[in-house]
Amino acid sequence: MEFLPKEIEDYCRRHSQDELEIYRQLTAETYESCQIPQMLSGPIVGTILQFFVRLTQARLVLEVGMFTGYSALKMAEALDGSGELLTCEIDPAHITIGRNYFQKVPWGKRITVLEGTALESLANLEPSFDLVFIDADKINYLNYYKRAVELIRSGGIIVLDNALWSGRVIMPEDDGSRTIAETNDFIQKDDSVWNVLLPIRDGLMVVQKK
Ligand SMILES: C[S@@+](CC[C@H](N)C(=O)[O-])C[C@H]1O[C@@H](n2cnc3c(N)ncnc32)[C@H](O)[C@@H]1O
Repeated sequence: MEFLPKEIEDYCRRHSQDELEIYRQLTAETYESCQIPQMLSGPIVGTILQFFVRLTQARLVLEVGMFTGYSALKMAEALDGSGELLTCEIDPAHITIGRNYFQKVPWGKRITVLEGTALESLANLEPSFDLVFIDADKINYLNYYKRAVELIRSGGIIVLDNALWSGRVIMPEDDGSRTIAETNDFIQKDDSVWNVLLPIRDGLMVVQKK
């Protein structure tokens, strides 16, 4: 899963805000101990998410798909002291790694992990969130999007990662690819939002509720 030529990606990183050592440690541990470490979104996406936290002056953020906590920790860092982030994760091993890192920094206290299947967790939440980041099982992307639109406030932002799915959305041949393509099409026709699909990394669909 290489999305950009390495030298271009390195150049972008060298010309983007640097990140704290804790993120490098978490990334290293994820690459040592997890089967598909490339699921970790990384510095460019993480920094963009931090911009959205600040631009929406977010008090309440929702993440669907925490993995080892990288993007959750990034967004929580950008919240102000009273802000909160809820993150859904099904895999106990991922949760253990994430929680260990959340304990290491003060902004980790802003994070609450909703353990279990994300659809069940989302069903129990109430509006309104300022920012939602969707980055879990692709087969449920449309369900996550529809629920996120209900949960987000007017002016709030929904970001869906992997909207390009390594280009497979162009000619989708498996269920995951088909669902992402279907979600992109649904968003494109959704009159309740403004949207732009940014070709950053594996594609970031950015949606703002009218
Ligand atoms: C792409 S990773 C998330 C990456 C993370 N946002 C980051 O940037 O580091 C997707 C995560 O969703 C979790 N997941 C998959 N299906 C799920 C479900 N039905 N409910 C909750 N979490 C799920 C996986 O265990 C995995 O950790």
